[in-house]
Amino acid sequence: MEEKSRFAVGLDVGTSNIRAVIGSVDRDGNVSVVGYSEVPSGGMRKGVVVNLAGPANAIDVCLKPVEDMSGIQVNAATIGINGSHILSAKTEGMIAVGTTDHEIDEADLDRVDQVAATGKFPANREILDLVPYSYSLDGQTGIRDPLGMTGSRLEIKASIISALLPYCDNLRKAAEMAKVQTERLVSTVVASARAVLTSQQMENGVGVVDLGATTTGVAVYDEGDLQYVGVIPIGGNDITKDLATILKTIPEVAEEIKIRFATGRFGENEKDIVIKQGREELTFPRAKVDEVVEARLEEIFEGVRKELKRANYDKRLPEGIVLTGGAAKLRDIEIYARSQVELAVRVSAPTGLGGVSESVAKPEYATAVGLMLTSAQFNPAPGQNAKKSSKKSSKSKGGPLSRFFGFFK
Ligand SMILES: Nc1ncnc2c1ncn2[C@@H]1O[C@H](COP(=O)(O)OP(=O)(O)OP(=O)(O)O)[C@@H](O)[C@H]1O
Ligand SMILES: [Mg+2]
Repeated sequence: MEEKSRFAVGLDVGTSNIRAVIGSVDRDGNVSVVGYSEVPSGGMRKGVVVNLAGPANAIDVCLKPVEDMSGIQVNAATIGINGSHILSAKTEGMIAVGTTDHEIDEADLDRVDQVAATGKFPANREILDLVPYSYSLDGQTGIRDPLGMTGSRLEIKASIISALLPYCDNLRKAAEMAKVQTERLVSTVVASARAVLTSQQMENGVGVVDLGATTTGVAVYDEGDLQYVGVIPIGGNDITKDLATILKTIPEVAEEIKIRFATGRFGENEKDIVIKQGREELTFPRAKVDEVVEARLEEIFEGVRKELKRANYDKRLPEGIVLTGGAAKLRDIEIYARSQVELAVRVSAPTGLGGVSESVAKPEYATAVGLMLTSAQFNPAPGQNAKKSSKKSSKSKGGPLSRFFGFFK
């Protein structure tokens, strides 16, 4: 068996499903998927842990087939954190770095990060990510990468993504009960973005919408950097619940109606919907189903629009919106989404990795694959350096800061 540290593990503890993806990382940092698994979740509500045993058991069950498939015993993973407690905010900081001929080094960048982050948040929030979007040096503004430049006063402008500490702790505890150490916590929609976006899209301006069971995550990228993260507490299960209530049927039948018949094109099909339940045939009026699905999708995409406005990117994303998550599989959802957000919309899944990556090329696997890729970046194989992004330090590409990690925990 190869050394464990050559493997990267992503664990997506969702409200309806838990997914794990394990990748093998070669010395050049190339990743191949060598195991994956998906099981129903438990003990989660709206993206957060509400009892420890539920997710702990589900993680345990989920990892068994992954371990069998890959021959690797999983004892650590990069884990997704979700929920509407995740917030992004802008921050600033300034430090004096010494004499005028001083060259800015990594230690200066660490220090200015810390000044930008310290004391700006209540003690019950944990910083998941700090993304610098601009530096100034001795008053010269708009510097993207000051490393090696000369100056005596360094200022930073950054976005900070934070989460409520108790929710982070509970997730770590649940993982620990399943004998899995948390390498780091990453916002689930940020992880999804990492799995489905190209660097070109991030440079030009793009939004990712992760349509889950009970939450809808929104992340905005521009000029290569993460600009904004927000989570709306509504998701695909709300459509199922509405269908069950309005059509007076059980959730299992409502879920089947949604998966087989719901679409993002409304009023085009008049035919009644017929579902077999045992020997019985149940008939539901198409117009009613359309009405229920449209009402919920409208609420979801109004929420997305609100997040884009908050981010200051409403109708201002040249690369449009990329949809991921299980609920993005609703037929023709992109057609409805386009009319609501007034931008190009496409549904996307993680592709382009080696190994058995075909099997995880599904929108619902975006989060787990993105988490695995983050694990690969920050936990390199022996002899391989932690990969840095081309432009700046490793922190700017969606994962939390490695150099930051000890400081803020
Ligand atoms: N073919 C399909 N058409 C429509 N909806 C679907 C389809 N397949 C799955 N879904 C929906 O996707 C949702 C589950 O998505 P996913 O597994 O991404 O959620 P999750 O990560 O567990 O939830 P959350 O992110 O909110 O914690 C459910 O609401 C499910 O009904
Ligand atoms: Mg999810």
